[in-house]
Amino acid sequence: MASDPANTAPAGIPRHLAVIMDGNGRWAERRRRPRMIGHRAGARAVNVCIDFCLERGIRALTLFAFSSENWARPEEEVGALMKLFLNALEREVEELHRRGVRIRFIGERARFSDAIRQRMDHAESVTAGNRRLHLNIAASYGGRWDIAQAARSLAEDVAAGRLAPADIDERLLGSRVALADLPPPDLFIRTGGDLRISNFLLWQLAYTELWFTELLWPELDATTLQVALDDYAGRQRRFGLTGAQVAGREPVAQDNENSA
Ligand code: IPE
Ligand code: IPE
Ligand code: MG
Repeated sequence: MASDPANTAPAGIPRHLAVIMDGNGRWAERRRRPRMIGHRAGARAVNVCIDFCLERGIRALTLFAFSSENWARPEEEVGALMKLFLNALEREVEELHRRGVRIRFIGERARFSDAIRQRMDHAESVTAGNRRLHLNIAASYGGRWDIAQAARSLAEDVAAGRLAPADIDERLLGSRVALADLPPPDLFIRTGGDLRISNFLLWQLAYTELWFTELLWPELDATTLQVALDDYAGRQRRFGLTGAQVAGREPVAQDNENSA
């Protein structure tokens, strides 16, 4: 999709930003408030992040909103999060559409209620033609689930005689994972101070630059996001090559396997 603007961004700016929005519960607990208050404050920070991406010319933003494992939280918290999710879908979609945002959801959609699934479908179809920012919400999402569903889809093709096992390679598996039509994330940000991936985009993050902050998600501001972007702009991404090769002082050898 060379013509898709997601493949371009101003120099030094990530084309695709992936974010683990963590720390809502602790933000509320520090204020001696119920965790749900933190989730509500977190929903406001989502808008800060979207505004920032629109202003800076970032073309794709993938937000981790709810993981496969988060279903195992106390029933009360899961129920309240679902309500918040539904409300946000009802409240925000029109404005996002107006601003040229394409909304997509990745994850195991079957686990959500009919009402939420309908709202997700609606948000996706209304905004399908927008290209200014690809906003992907990972909900009921797990990186392992994603790879497993890609493997299942290939197995179905093999069983139907459409594909030979020998044809399965990285490129083909990569074409069946979520967001295969977008460039992989250039920059990953996790708030909340924990240094882990927590089953987010396992396949897609293979060469993503990682950036962590102690700041809790509801405290997010444009200044912090700019610090992450400045840090990213100063990094040399080598993708397995030497620094001299990346700088153009040494030629890049043809890798037999990948160039075949
Ligand atoms: C992230 O905040 C939001 C979700 C996982 C839904 P948390 O709820 O994980 O907040 P902490 O990590 O407990 O502070
Ligand atoms: C990751 O946060 C998932 C989301 C932000 C939606 P968690 O709070 O679930 O991650 P862990 O449990 O601390 O690894
Ligand atoms: Mg957390």
